[in-house]
Amino acid sequence: MTIQWFPGHMTKARRQIQEKLGLIDVVIELVDARLPLSSRNPMIDEILNGKPRMIVMNKSDLADPAMTKEWLDYFKAEGHAALEVNATTGQGTKEIPQQARELFKEKIERQIAKGIRPRPVRALIVGIPNVGKSTLINRLAGKNIAVTGDRPGVTKGQQWIKVGTEMELLDTPGILWPKFEDQNVGYRLAVTGAIKEEILNLEDIAFFAVKYLARYYWPHLKERYDLKGPQPQDFESPDEIVAIMEEIGRKRGCIVSGGRVDLAKASGIILRELRAGKTGRYTLESPF
Ligand code: G4P
Repeated sequence: MTIQWFPGHMTKARRQIQEKLGLIDVVIELVDARLPLSSRNPMIDEILNGKPRMIVMNKSDLADPAMTKEWLDYFKAEGHAALEVNATTGQGTKEIPQQARELFKEKIERQIAKGIRPRPVRALIVGIPNVGKSTLINRLAGKNIAVTGDRPGVTKGQQWIKVGTEMELLDTPGILWPKFEDQNVGYRLAVTGAIKEEILNLEDIAFFAVKYLARYYWPHLKERYDLKGPQPQDFESPDEIVAIMEEIGRKRGCIVSGGRVDLAKASGIILRELRAGKTGRYTLESPF
C-alpha cells in the first residue's frame, strides 16, 4: 500500500488516537531503531497531551547496536522511559509491562493507600505504518489475535488484550503519520521501506542509501558486494557513489544492451538486501 498522508487523514488519525487516550493510562510509542527520529511523529507531544509514555525502539535486530545505545541515552535524557526490542522474536518485550507499571506507579500507590486493589495498567501502542505495531501486539498477546498489517479500518469494537496480570493492551494500535516533507526524512523512511518507492525515485533512494553506507558503514558495503576500490572521499560529488552502484549492478548481473548497468534494477537489489538486513546492521541517523 502506498502511504500518502493528506491533512484530512492526519486530522482523522489524530482524532482516533485522542479518542482512545481517555481509555488508557500509558502510551507505548513505537519507533524504528534504524531511524528513531524520522520514524516519530513530530506532533506526538501535542497529540498525547501529557499522557505517560515510553519510547520503544523496534527492529533493533536491524539497527547498529552502538547507535541504539546512544539513542536510548538520548531519549532518557529527554526524560522518557526508553527500551529496545525485537517484536519478531520478542527480545526485550518482557520489559514493556514492567515499564508501564513504573510509569503508572504513583496512581497504583495512591490506590493501594486508599485500600483499592490496583487494576492492570491500560496501554495503547502508537506508531507510524510498518514500524511493527501489529507484530508487537501479537507478541505481547502471546497468540495471534491482532491482524498483522496496516488496517486503519479495524478500529471498531475495541478489545483489551491481557499481557500477564499487570497490563492490558488495546487490540488496535494508534496509527501516526510520518512527516516526510523534509527530504532526508523521506529518504530515510523510504530506505527502510516505511514509505513506498513510488513517492520518491527508486534510484535516488538507493543513491541516498549507498552514499550513507559508504560514509558511515563502508566495511558493510565492501564486504557484502566485494567492492574493489577504496572508501570514497568526496561525498559532495555523486560520481564515486554512482560508480559503486554500477559496480554492484555489474556483480548482480544488472546489464542492459550495450553493456550498460541497469541502475534501476541494481537499486532495487541494493534496497531489498538492505531492508532484509543482509548488508549488516545500520542506523540512518545519529542523536549528535
Ligand atoms: P505495523 O502494524 O506497524 O504496520 O507493522 P507490522 O507489525 O505489520 O510490521 C511491519 C513489518 O515489519 C513486518 O514484515 C514485520 O514482520 C516486520 N517487523 C516487525 N517487527 C520487527 C522486528 O523487530 N524486526 C524485524 N526484523 N522485522 C520486524 P512483513 O509483514 O514481512 O512486511 P515486509 O517485511 O514484507 O515489509
